[in-house]
Amino acid sequence: MKKKILVTGGCGYIGSHTIVDLIENGFEVISIDNNSNSDIRVLEGIRQITGVQVKNYTVDLCDLEKTRKVFAIEKFDGIIHFAALKNVGESVYNPLQYFHNNITSLINVLDCALKNDVKHFIFSSSCSVYGNAEKLPVTENTPLSPPESPYARTKVIGEDIITDFINANKDFSAILLRYFNPAGAHESALIGESPINKAANLVPVITETGIKKREGFDVFGNDYDTRDGSCIRDYIHVMDLANAHTKSLQYAMGDMKEKVEVFNVGIGNGVSVLEAIKAFENVTDKALNYKIAPRREGDVVAIYADYSKAEKVLGWTPKRNIEDIMRTAWKWEQVRSGVLQE
Ligand code: WQD
Repeated sequence: MKKKILVTGGCGYIGSHTIVDLIENGFEVISIDNNSNSDIRVLEGIRQITGVQVKNYTVDLCDLEKTRKVFAIEKFDGIIHFAALKNVGESVYNPLQYFHNNITSLINVLDCALKNDVKHFIFSSSCSVYGNAEKLPVTENTPLSPPESPYARTKVIGEDIITDFINANKDFSAILLRYFNPAGAHESALIGESPINKAANLVPVITETGIKKREGFDVFGNDYDTRDGSCIRDYIHVMDLANAHTKSLQYAMGDMKEKVEVFNVGIGNGVSVLEAIKAFENVTDKALNYKIAPRREGDVVAIYADYSKAEKVLGWTPKRNIEDIMRTAWKWEQVRSGVLQE
């Protein structure tokens, strides 16, 4: 009998790619997504890749009654909770919307998990909980720094809420996955990152510039104390990130030791903004139009992961690098802009 997994935010970027990996690893998947920041048509892409038509409940997880109704219909064996607002800049201007949405939805899903005895919970957290870490690469024991934004603060609070929930309910377990910088798209270019609002993250900004959706873009600072003056990040291909969720579920349903475990999900390779640009230009043979601009408020100078705990405990290893990210992101951008057939 297949294990049935609830993926909240299943129509989103990481959620949709994770659903593909879960199905390819023998899980049955149900999505809850109110499509406030995602496109229901992604389920057609998932169907073309996997042959499975995934059911989505178009429910706002902040509505407890409607969320409870889904749990009354479906019997879940585990939950992966992606659904959240995630625009760092927007969260600074609208903190109450972020606290209300991200925290209320989390509490409602946990309440339903408790009342329906769904014992395994995977949470989408973020490396932004580390802030500007003193020592790199960061491990799961690296002290957390004050969050740089309300968005990051909702992740810190989320981890604390889940930890207290598990401490109060001993036969439940939770895995907190601290993502680094997700980017790239499925090889097929049938699904990928489809920002409803104007892209803010570096890789979609690069591909939109490459396809001339935007004239050019700013590099936010080249006067940092790094090898080329631009900020360093750990870009992880979204399909590698997706597989980390599948491996986490398999571990949670298998011989998980502790009741709450934290894992860094990055590839341990720091890439600067200028190196990422170079990687795109090498892969696509296209020169990008950008200019050096002032630093962006809240940017961390450098961060990249020590993922050895996920490798050892989950048996997870990343298989793709920055060139794979740029190649798949570019193919996806061309397909979604109608320049290329998938
Ligand atoms: C990367 C680097 C920018 C755009 C954020 C969130 C994190 C996660 C991923 C949700 C930085 C530079 C960017 C541009 C640029 N979000 N940049 N010009 O800020 O590292 O992480 O997204 O899960 O929680 O914090 O990602 O892609 O915005 O920036 O120079 O037009 O690219 O300054 O150094 P970030 P990013």
